[in-house]
Amino acid sequence: MSNISPETRKSMTLHRIREIAARGEKLTMLTCYDATFARVLDEAGIELFLVGDSLAMTVQGHSTTVPVSLENMAYHVRCVAAGNQFAWVIGDLPYGTYHESPAQAYASARTLMQAGAHMVKLEGGGWTVSAVQFLTERGIPVCAHLGLTPQTVHALGGYRIQGRTDAAAEKLIADACALEIAGASMLVVELVPSSVGKALADALTIPVIGIGAGKEVDGQVLVLHDMLGLTLGKLPRFVNNFALGTPSTLDAVKAYAAAVKSGTFPEPQHTYDQ
Ligand code: KIV
Repeated sequence: MSNISPETRKSMTLHRIREIAARGEKLTMLTCYDATFARVLDEAGIELFLVGDSLAMTVQGHSTTVPVSLENMAYHVRCVAAGNQFAWVIGDLPYGTYHESPAQAYASARTLMQAGAHMVKLEGGGWTVSAVQFLTERGIPVCAHLGLTPQTVHALGGYRIQGRTDAAAEKLIADACALEIAGASMLVVELVPSSVGKALADALTIPVIGIGAGKEVDGQVLVLHDMLGLTLGKLPRFVNNFALGTPSTLDAVKAYAAAVKSGTFPEPQHTYDQ
């Protein structure tokens, strides 16, 4: 069905993730919140599972990601880890659990690692550098998250495209470089013009995974419920419903994986210009 690499049938490691990106093959990431979906996504060959704090919205019904607790995140990481065999599992550090000090970030990250995560993700630019360094020095792989950072949606004034001016784009690139130097081994970038996604991927050696960041990045991520057509109401333009016309959830996820690998997703209608 697709040209998914044979590596997906071995357990993912940071080394394999870097190799896939280094040879120019796109990485596939989806959010995942429970064991059943973990089995389906694993079967479809998805390489990176993000136990995203978006579960505050998709699972818990909140209107933002802000209310989800660390205990809830650990519960869902445990569920996903129980269903997963091959994928690399990333646990999102929720709002307020890494903001006070590197020591607080470590205690929170430890909770998710002990629940079964292979890496933690945290949102934010320069102010997170000390936490990223503290975690990575202690052997916890970190994925940074820049661009639209949903935990700060109130401060950002809504779900708006980031990095549109030259100054804002330069700040994003400077923050990303500082996070890579601090030890981050992956970056998720959300809702930026395609040119900014490309500039970030060009500036960094670590894999850059985009969501609404164009196709010239190292991989793509979508929220599972969005790409399966389960989210009602208005969706951001970067979402594609891969369940349309497919006979099963497994086929929809395979279609996503194949589209990312072949570079046919995202299409121009899913991306943003300056
Ligand atoms: O929590 C989440 O789903 C995320 C994605 C939007 C990347 O962080």
